[in-house]
Formats: sequence, structure tokens, C-alpha cells
Amino acid sequence: MNDRQLSPRVLEALSGRELIVVSNRQPYAHSREDGEITVSRPAGGLTAGIDPVMQRTEGTWIAWGDGDADFEVAEDGRVRVPPDDPSYTLSRIDLSEEDLEGYYYGYSNQALWPLCHGMIYPVRCDGRDFERYRAVNRRFAEAVVEEAEKGSLIWFQDYHFGLAPRFVRREAPEALLTQFWHIPWPTANTYEVCPQAEALLDGLLANDLLVFHTAEYVENFLECVAETVPDATVDRDRRIVRRGDRTTTVRAFPLGIDAERTEELASESGVWSDLAERYGIGGQTVALGVDRLDYTKGIPERIDAIERFFEENPDWRGEFTYVQNGSASRSEIASYEYLQQRVDTAIQRVNRRFGTGEWQPIVRIDEMLPEEELYALYRHSDLALVSALRDGMNLVAKEYVASQIDGDGVLLLSKFAGAHAELGEDAVTINPFDTQAFAEAIERALSLSAAEREERMAAQRRRVTEYDLQAWMNDVLETALDCEPAHDRSVTHA
Ligand code: F6P
Repeated sequence: MNDRQLSPRVLEALSGRELIVVSNRQPYAHSREDGEITVSRPAGGLTAGIDPVMQRTEGTWIAWGDGDADFEVAEDGRVRVPPDDPSYTLSRIDLSEEDLEGYYYGYSNQALWPLCHGMIYPVRCDGRDFERYRAVNRRFAEAVVEEAEKGSLIWFQDYHFGLAPRFVRREAPEALLTQFWHIPWPTANTYEVCPQAEALLDGLLANDLLVFHTAEYVENFLECVAETVPDATVDRDRRIVRRGDRTTTVRAFPLGIDAERTEELASESGVWSDLAERYGIGGQTVALGVDRLDYTKGIPERIDAIERFFEENPDWRGEFTYVQNGSASRSEIASYEYLQQRVDTAIQRVNRRFGTGEWQPIVRIDEMLPEEELYALYRHSDLALVSALRDGMNLVAKEYVASQIDGDGVLLLSKFAGAHAELGEDAVTINPFDTQAFAEAIERALSLSAAEREERMAAQRRRVTEYDLQAWMNDVLETALDCEPAHDRSVTHA
């Protein structure tokens, strides 16, 4: 992202105050390779997007130091970044095995992740994990309070920090606190299974501004507050919650991508033919699926639909290839391990049933592709299959659209992905739970005329370009500034 596109109001506000970002993943990691310390930038549009803003504000970014040499470069965890032109501080939190077990693998990813995605079966809200989650949230909050000075804008990212805002609020009552919740918020009758429901809402209501991707998640959140927090007054029309003398504003701003940069990457020529040859991507027509291997993404459901498609459309054998690019994720959790086995078995089955000596219907790429290869794959894929069972947004859908510089691909998009609210009208909508209808949707997408494909894609490209990462950031930060508590800010918290 280029900060020249931030609004004048945001630029002015940020030049006069410190921005403190709090996230689980860090923007730079130090690792040891062959005796040398190297720096890498973990993939992820958001970290890449916030980084230039941090460089401009000279703020502090607080995150888990997960690089194996992170604490070799700075024992206290504080390091100036970017490494080649240091302009802000990355303050790393060192988490022990037990911390990770309870906070990351436990409460964040076995309680909150499935709960917020409305998947009750794998939910495990273990009180012991919650205590570790609370302790880690407290440590992040302490790091915030240590950094914060008068007027700091503190911006929490995601579901790893449901309690930290309350801890910060206790120490710094006048701080301006904002949080972006990157995953869905469930309905009240799903949320009520959580024994820590009230404690989490108490933590989140310490924010001045709480942002979700869609209006539906905002509605769900307000409903949960109304049902769970006895002393809260919910104003659904104004989308605010009042408690005592404090107000939390709740808004929907759908996360966008850096469309300009995506287009640039997709424009690089000569990458696709090498990639196709290296992985044996045969067939004239290509469909892609790009995901972390997560049970919310609907990957086995997608493979089932592809299998049905080949059963019913044998003429496409040898012509149509599906490329599954899925990197392993959270593998220490049993439900993820089980998913990986299901995906392996399903791919083998389809390739055995329909593959020929020269052609495989499903090509899997398990490694994380370098950016220029990933964007070449996006550009040259005739179809993108985004079949999430539930997804906060799904940036793959937006990245595919922005990469379609030739303008003729078709996005098949689950109605249960947050991106559907913006792109659904011009996508081929799918319900990943209905194998037959999903297979027919693939067939329909392949038979759309060139004019119709181009018209749909042009409309989607307009949306993705107009409401991009920069526009989203302006909305979040301007709204945060509007939420500034109107009282004396003369107390320093440093
Ligand atoms: O979608 C929520 C999210 O936290 C994203 O922001 C992030 O890209 C993804 O999950 C990665 O998860 P993890 O950090 O657990 O690998």
C-alpha cells in the first residue's frame, strides 16, 4: 500500500500522534539459516498494508515474535524496522510453548475460530486455555501501556485479542482504542454456547470503535451484547453500545486489497508457462483454489463437486484442470490434521478415477508460491472456486478479481463468504453444501459467453479497485478519530 492515498485528515492526525498496532503475527521475522540471520516478511495483505502507515507515523507494532532468531537480534524484543530503512519499532512478545498451547492453538483456534465461524462441533472452550489466553492478552496489554503516550491511537487486530482492550482501558482510561475483527461474528444462539461469552464482550466493549467486515456481523454482535451483557444499552439504529459513561461504536468496513499492486504483479509476463510446466498443469482450461488448509474453506466439498462435474461431463477430461494451492495450517490441532487427510484422500480418488497417462484432473501445489507465481496463477485461471463454508471476507476472491487484467475469468463464490456481499451480484453464486448444484455451477460458468464473462468481471474489478485497502484504512481510521472520547487528554500513560 502507498500511504499517499491516505486521506488528508488521516495523514494529519497520524503525523501528530503515535499509532500502536497489536497483532498476533508480526510484519518482519528474524530467522537463522545456515548460521546467518535473515529477515523475512510473512505473507499477508494486511501486514503489508499497515507497514507503510507505520513507517510514516513512527509508531510501535506489538506482535508475537515467532522467528527463531527474533530475540537474538534484540534481547528485549524491541527492534527497529524495516531493517533496511528503520522507521518504527517492532516490539516482540516472547511466548512459551505453554502460552502457544493455551492462547493460540487452544482458545484462539479451538474456541473462538470455530465458534465465530458458526461451527459448533469442533468448539472447545476449555477454561484452562481461557486462563492462558487471558494471561497472554494481559502481557500484550502491558506492552501497549508501556508504549502508549498521550493521544496514542491503539489498533488491535483480530480474535486473538478479545480481552486486551479491557486491560489497556483500566490503565489508560483516555486512550483511543480500536479493534478490527477479521472473522465473522456468530448469531446469538451460536455464541451462547461459549462459557466465557460475557467476559469476551466485556473485553471488546472497552474499545471506542469495533469494526467487522459486514453489516450482518455487526447485527449479530449487537444482538449478542443485548442478550449477554445486562448493564449494556444497545442502540441498533445508531450501532452503538452504551455502558456507564462509555460508548462503543460498532461499524462494518469490508477489508480490501492493494489492487494496484496486485495488478502490477499479475502483469509480469513469462511466469505462467514455467509454472504450468513445473507442476504439470495440463488442459486448456484451468480452475484454481487457493487457501490455507482450514475446515472453514470448503476444500473437500469443492473436490466432491469437481468429481461430480467430471462424472457428468466426461468430455472435459484432458481439457479442464483444477489447481489446489493449499498451505498447511495449524496442523497441531486434530481437526486440521483430519482435514488434511480428507483432502489427500479426495484428491487421490479423483485423480485415480479420471486421470490419464498425460493429464491429472487435480494438480496440488502444497508450497506457498512466490508472489509473482501466485498472481500468474490467478491471472491465467479461467475460474476461481471460492467455496468457503463460512468466511469473514475471503481475500482470495478479491485477489483473483484484481489479477484478471485480461478481464475474462469467472469467480464462483460461496454465498457464505463475506466477500459475497460485495461481489456476489456478478459472481456465479454457489452453496458448497450442495454438491450437485456446485458441479452444475462449474458447468454453467464454463459455458458463459465471452461478453457475459467480461461484463461480470468488469463490474467486480470496479468494486475491488474502488474500495481497496487504502479506502478501507481511511474509513477505519477516520471513524476511530470520530470516536475520540471528548474529555481531558492531558494525562500521560508512558
Ligand atoms: O482470517 C483470520 C486470520 O487471522 C487472518 O488474518 C490470517 O491471515 C489467518 O487467519 C492466518 O492464521 P494463522 O495466523 O493462524 O496462521
